[in-house]
Amino acid sequence: MSQTGSANPFRPGSGIFPPLLAGREAETAVFEARIARTREGHPQHTALLGEWAIGKTTLLMHWRRLRQKAGDAVVLSMAYPQAKDDFLSALARALAAATEPEWSDRLDIELGLDLGVAEARLRRPHRNAESELRRSLRHLVEERRGELTAVVLVDDIDLVADPGDALLQLRASALELYATGLSFAFVVAGSPALFAAVRAAHEPLVRFFEPLTLRPLDADASARAITEPLAETSVGFDAEVVNEIVELSGGRPYYLQKLAYYAFDAAERGRTSRAEFRLAFDGAFASVSQEIFAARWAAMSPIERQVVLVVASLTEPSSSGDIESQAVRSEIRPAATRQALRRLAARGHVDRTANGHRGRYAVRDRLFRRYLELQTCER
Ligand SMILES: Nc1ncnc2c1ncn2[C@@H]1O[C@H](COP(=O)(O)OP(=O)(O)O)[C@@H](O)[C@H]1O
Ligand SMILES: [Mg+2]
Repeated sequence: MSQTGSANPFRPGSGIFPPLLAGREAETAVFEARIARTREGHPQHTALLGEWAIGKTTLLMHWRRLRQKAGDAVVLSMAYPQAKDDFLSALARALAAATEPEWSDRLDIELGLDLGVAEARLRRPHRNAESELRRSLRHLVEERRGELTAVVLVDDIDLVADPGDALLQLRASALELYATGLSFAFVVAGSPALFAAVRAAHEPLVRFFEPLTLRPLDADASARAITEPLAETSVGFDAEVVNEIVELSGGRPYYLQKLAYYAFDAAERGRTSRAEFRLAFDGAFASVSQEIFAARWAAMSPIERQVVLVVASLTEPSSSGDIESQAVRSEIRPAATRQALRRLAARGHVDRTANGHRGRYAVRDRLFRRYLELQTCER
């Protein structure tokens, strides 16, 4: 425990607003430009794409705050693992609740909170999810007629059972509203594989929800994410500790928060130097392993495990061919290796860098690589 009495400012978690929102100026400028275009009568919608824990929810919360301050009507809604129609109904309710309470009461009744209707609904579930959504969307937007823009943010859209269908229906509802000349924009957040998963609907969806991809923070922003919150406390990290956290994290904000959190608690007399950080790292690594890596590993097939261990053991990004020939030594057929690589890359466990048609694979995440090295030792 820190002996200084300062509260730990770091916030490792999911959807917890960080002490300092580092970087993201470029993405926010793109978002703001799209809202400005929307207001001028050229609606632009966004798909905010990024790996787990890269900062999607945080950025949506930031954008909500910005747009609210500017006077827009903003609704932020989370998707869950749920059927598409349940998702649309829940979104319709969130939109309704954002307008007058009176309207939301009326919609509640229409949605079936009134008992008699609820029973009817049970027999014919969600027949009107789509029209509910259109109605409440239109209402939200009409409320703002002549004023600013309505912005609807939907987080984790790929948790919905059929995200492609859900997106198509959002798009259909939006297109219907275009005819009225009302001003509003959608932002949906999901994993980078979102559009790959929707296949047939890919083209129209990508043109409608313009992708904006979140990448790890650069070294400068990463360092600021640590040093600026720290400056408000009575604890300091040696410069080499800050550098080490930045490097180990690879700019992934969740790792930054996690490592800095443990480094803060490890401070001796208000200071964390190399020696304290060594222990802090063990704690942070154990925590991430338990929270994230163990489940990830458990969900892999035996072949995927072998293949990911091969990729993690390579000193530089390697072609599928190189990985296949290594895996053959463990008696895995090249076709099986190729398939495992594709799956691992789609889930973000392995990084694929494309160079023309040739892809190269690596595990860039240093904490995950360390976890995999430990798995190798246990074999
Ligand atoms: N730009 C940022 N600067 C500093 N910390 C961040 C930033 N973005 C996210 N974080 C922190 O990283 C963690 C994961 O962020 P989150 O928004 O939940 O990611 P996602 O929604 O992509 O899974 C949280 O602890 C959050 O506070
Ligand atoms: Mg999130």
